[in-house]
Amino acid sequence: MFIDFYHRPAGKQGFHVIERGRDRRVSGEVVQKVETIYSDGYYFVACVLGLRWIMAAYEFRAGLEGVPATQSSISYVDGQRGILEYRGIAIQELAHQSTFLETAYLLIWGHLPNQADLAEFQEEIQSHRRLKYRIRDMMKCFPESGHPMDALQACAAALGLFYSKRALDDPAYVRAAVVRLLAKVPTMVAAFQLMRKGNDPVQPRDDLGYAANFLYMLNEKEPDPLAAHIFDVCLTLHAEHTINASTFSAMVTASTLTDPYGVIASAVGTLAGPLHGGAAEEVVGMLEEVGSVKNVQTYVDRCLMSKQRIMGFGHRVYKVKDPRAMILQGLAEKLFEQFGHDQYYDIAVALEAAVADRLAGKGIYPNVDFYSGLVYRKLGIPTDLFTPVFAISRTAGWLAHWKEQLGENRIFRPTQIYTGLHGTKYLPIDQR
Ligand SMILES: CC(C)(COP(=O)(O)OP(=O)(O)OC[C@H]1O[C@@H](n2cnc3c(N)ncnc32)[C@H](O)[C@@H]1OP(=O)(O)O)[C@@H](O)C(=O)NCCC(=O)NCCS
Repeated sequence: MFIDFYHRPAGKQGFHVIERGRDRRVSGEVVQKVETIYSDGYYFVACVLGLRWIMAAYEFRAGLEGVPATQSSISYVDGQRGILEYRGIAIQELAHQSTFLETAYLLIWGHLPNQADLAEFQEEIQSHRRLKYRIRDMMKCFPESGHPMDALQACAAALGLFYSKRALDDPAYVRAAVVRLLAKVPTMVAAFQLMRKGNDPVQPRDDLGYAANFLYMLNEKEPDPLAAHIFDVCLTLHAEHTINASTFSAMVTASTLTDPYGVIASAVGTLAGPLHGGAAEEVVGMLEEVGSVKNVQTYVDRCLMSKQRIMGFGHRVYKVKDPRAMILQGLAEKLFEQFGHDQYYDIAVALEAAVADRLAGKGIYPNVDFYSGLVYRKLGIPTDLFTPVFAISRTAGWLAHWKEQLGENRIFRPTQIYTGLHGTKYLPIDQR
């Protein structure tokens, strides 16, 4: 990011921009001394440059809100108009016409595959779904009470031990890593679920597609085709979403040129928090707490009075209803029609209306996590697996950003506004 450097002419008010610079260098000279003054949301940095004092202005944005940190051609979000596109294709079109694996290919390689490309990609993924027995043995030592996201993070990182050769500039290495991660992440999630119940993991089935195979490994029975299709659409919807917290985390890690397993492990760790991927899990807990449609209004009033966040609402980018939430709501209705109604869906609809009455003015609407939990529950996915399931799907987006980052890499190293002391004396321990 560029910095405006200012010069204050002697005896005059105000500052004049003298140069847009970067790296603390102005006109080739290195800045020697820096002092920071905060005013009106900007940090003015006074620097000694040669024999002159000059000023630079940095606008500090908490959470880097709105600060461009990369250039990317993978996905696009317009939060005001509720638009999400992957490589220029509207999410609605992909949800209706594509499959998760085809979408993953699109995200990672930048174009839709033809029939031969897709068949080859599917076959490669299919043949890499199994886990090495040592990974399974390692998982057996994980405590059953541990969160599955922690298990997934540990397993993703452990893949780096088994596939330790690193050749980031070799396209065959990049492809193999993409295939291995997309293939094995679902197997690791399902295996941990069975192992923590004391059961042996189920081997993947080659005759089942990506989504159907995951549900089979998880529930130990072949899923209904509609359930498998709906789950596949859910994976497509969650596959990518520009430079959110976990993707940024993946990119920062990728920019050090570490291995892709470390990249995915750091992204999984970031996705785990309740303000990001963990929200779907919290939504179901919230709907259970509300318990009945008649309690909705009181619940909303109580949350807003006590300044408590209502889970599944609000988004840093969307200021209208998240387009993915609209698609998920439709899927939820289809599922309940086919497999029986869920009273929590009625609570969710009433909650959406009550929150809209109070918060629509602030641009707070349901986000992707609001309806996804209800869909997952109906598919037999336990609540604490919602975020790992999100990770299965988002692995596609993380890998797309990893590959893009490798293309034009510069290590991430932002600056900071130092607010601490200078020249503090060290006080020996017996004098404190
Ligand atoms: C997603 C989220 C972190 C975005 O946060 P953000 O862009 O930093 O938004 P802010 O925290 O600046 O909130 C802006 C205003 O909306 C309010 N707000 C935002 N989300 C809210 C929610 N879920 N419930 C109630 N109020 C909410 C804030 O209190 C704030 O009000 P104020 O201006 O009167 O203080 C936030 O909306 C949230 O915590 N949502 C719940 C968790 C969730 O569903 N996460 C999944 C995201 S996909």
